[in-house]
Amino acid sequence: MNKKSVRDIDVSNKKVLVRVDFNVPLDLETKTTITNDKRIRESLKTINYLIENNAKVILCSHIGKTKEKLSIAPVAKRLSEYLERPVTLIPEIIGDNAKAVISNMKPGDVVLLENVRRFAEEEANDEVFARELASLAEIYVNDAFGTAHRAHASTEGVAKHLPAVCGFLIEKELKALGDAIDNPKRPLVAIIGGAKVSSKIAVLLNLLEKVDTIIIGGGMTYTFVKALGGTIGNSILEEDKIEVAKEILAKAEEKGVKVVLPVDTVAAVDFAEDADSKVVESMNIPDGYQGMDIGPKSIELFTEVIKGAGTVVWNGPVGVFEFKKFGAGTNAVAKAMAESNAETIIGGGDSASAVAKAGLEQEMTHVSTGGGASLEFMEGKELPGIVALNDK
Ligand code: 3PG
Repeated sequence: MNKKSVRDIDVSNKKVLVRVDFNVPLDLETKTTITNDKRIRESLKTINYLIENNAKVILCSHIGKTKEKLSIAPVAKRLSEYLERPVTLIPEIIGDNAKAVISNMKPGDVVLLENVRRFAEEEANDEVFARELASLAEIYVNDAFGTAHRAHASTEGVAKHLPAVCGFLIEKELKALGDAIDNPKRPLVAIIGGAKVSSKIAVLLNLLEKVDTIIIGGGMTYTFVKALGGTIGNSILEEDKIEVAKEILAKAEEKGVKVVLPVDTVAAVDFAEDADSKVVESMNIPDGYQGMDIGPKSIELFTEVIKGAGTVVWNGPVGVFEFKKFGAGTNAVAKAMAESNAETIIGGGDSASAVAKAGLEQEMTHVSTGGGASLEFMEGKELPGIVALNDK
């Protein structure tokens, strides 16, 4: 990577503002209990490096949806357990009180600013706000890979006002995702799922330039089935994307990329956890039924393709995995990847949740901490939070 990292800058005795992605899932009821702390664990390497190198560490992140204005206090507590030292929560984020606490920090101290999206200026990438954030520190480190696709004040604006470098997590993510797509062990197989073709067009088009095989699953399958002249019953369809699906299939053929679609489908009478269901041919889903998951023959087919791969990149579940009854296909993909000898890269978001739910995280080469960010990376887009950092 051509961007400077924490290794390239002297942090000793310096106030270092670190943008991390502590947007961790919280329990739905109280919104105070962390249900998966992977993003906290993955940021420890950079934080510990800064502590060991006598920096004064000022952490900054958003958490939850903007309108919820959640507190990041549960993260301060969990982080302090991992670091085995106090992590002081600064509620004001910017202003005189924050500055007063920070000016009393000693090397190795760690503070965490309150949820930065409590300020509308954050998402607006407000110049004055970015300067205020910058005025808290002498160095800026971005390690928030999961938020690197956002040009916000704490991910992009602030980098204009301080020496700006990346942390170890961003380095690791870019290397793992970059190698998988641009320098893979072949054959390179991409599994692209999820409900909508529209949200995956860009990634499909970019990957067609790189991969040997694309497996398509999830709700987007039915638009492809329609494009191929099949019948889809009541399955989810993006009518206005049928032409795009045809173009994607034509382009794949032109490039010699093999497209693997499900051959059978678990179809249900309702979009519900306990809906009556049966296995049908993917090209022939009867009226009154909607596709919810890939069927057993498709599981076999996908597993075979994964077995023969040198590298597998996965983004998006292949069924409605949030309903246990329709999670078999997604679980089988996770299992096949875990058992394969291929480099296995999980592109964040729902596929990462599925892998975590199946307890298979440790079996993968890389599970990205970024949902939207890893998708945009795989679309071939530049991520503003990384572009803004200083070149080597
Ligand atoms: C994520 O969870 O993908 C990141 O934290 C970014 O969150 P956002 O989509 O709300 O910007």
